[in-house]
Amino acid sequence: MWSFIDLSAAEPPLGPAPTYPGPLQDSFGRRINYLRISLTDACNLRCVYCMPEEMRFRPRAELLSDGEILAIVQAAAELGVSKIRLTGGEPTIRPGMVELVRAIASTPGIGQVAMTTNGLLLAELAEPLARAGLRGLNISIDTLDAVKFRRITRWGDLRRVWDGIAAAEAAQIRPLKLNAVVTRGFNEEEVVSLARLSIDHPWHIRFIELMPLGSVADFQQEAVVSSAETRRLIEAELGPLHPLAGYDGSDPARPYRLAGAAGQLGFISSVTEPFCAGCNRFRLTADGKLRLCLLRDREVDLLAPLRSGCTGDELREIMRVAVWHKPWGHGLPQGEVPQLRLMSQIGG
Ligand code: 5AD
Ligand code: SF4
Repeated sequence: MWSFIDLSAAEPPLGPAPTYPGPLQDSFGRRINYLRISLTDACNLRCVYCMPEEMRFRPRAELLSDGEILAIVQAAAELGVSKIRLTGGEPTIRPGMVELVRAIASTPGIGQVAMTTNGLLLAELAEPLARAGLRGLNISIDTLDAVKFRRITRWGDLRRVWDGIAAAEAAQIRPLKLNAVVTRGFNEEEVVSLARLSIDHPWHIRFIELMPLGSVADFQQEAVVSSAETRRLIEAELGPLHPLAGYDGSDPARPYRLAGAAGQLGFISSVTEPFCAGCNRFRLTADGKLRLCLLRDREVDLLAPLRSGCTGDELREIMRVAVWHKPWGHGLPQGEVPQLRLMSQIGG
């Protein structure tokens, strides 16, 4: 059974994991109940901080089929995973994605299925997705300025994202979170107008520090804006940010509120203030690898075992061993930048 474990990074094989009662956990005692699934590495945008314009994507045959994804979801649910987030690339461009959401949402044990999207296709898809059981949307929007938006995304039309946000509201998909990656020279001045949205809307507006991955890491490291700086820019214009009580550490976004605001602000500070201690998640790439830490290259293959006919028991055991070996945290402070994949090939 161990022969199924294939490491794409040149690292020693994983040892076995002890048996333990109850749901998935890692060797540091963290409970792992949240799986993020990338449905495709392809995207209908080309954000400058994410991928080069001439990006090539994997052929469909190398991606997990719907049936393979559902087998993994079922195994994960049997191991105590209760929350699934669908990501990409851009998850909405995968054919048949609404039906896949319906099937995942109706898997026994799965309590929440959410999605992270660039919003371009939501005007048509929000309502069917809500009916399929989607609970929770994170929509990427790095600026409210149409010209800057096009510069960041290379191709994007900001109006379509707004139409998508309106459709998500109309479909009553909650919670609705807007994500902005803050990139120096592209949108650091935009954080104030984005933060202002939280005053009148019950949304979570979240500011993400740029993380370095693969061939675009040099640009990403030069363009990172710390959450501390983002908070200062916002406070200088909109007044003090109040930390919210009851923050439990498992949400990477540290929550704040502007006085009297309907919504809240969040800061995801993976680079300057890592939140590894509270990490409860692992990831599945579109080509069928379990990725144990976003910013570590160690992966465990599920595609080959699935295609060579492994049983449900074997699949669960591979996942259990992989999760047990989840690394403690990333190595950015030591200069260890993950090389194997770009963000779009993991899903954030
Ligand atoms: N660092 C941080 N966030 C990123 N995203 C894409 N690339 C990066 C990066 N290098 C964001 C997207 C989206 C989410 C999936 O991840 O903008 O909001
Ligand atoms: Fe596409 Fe998201 Fe990458 Fe932008 S950040 S190119 S929307 S995958």
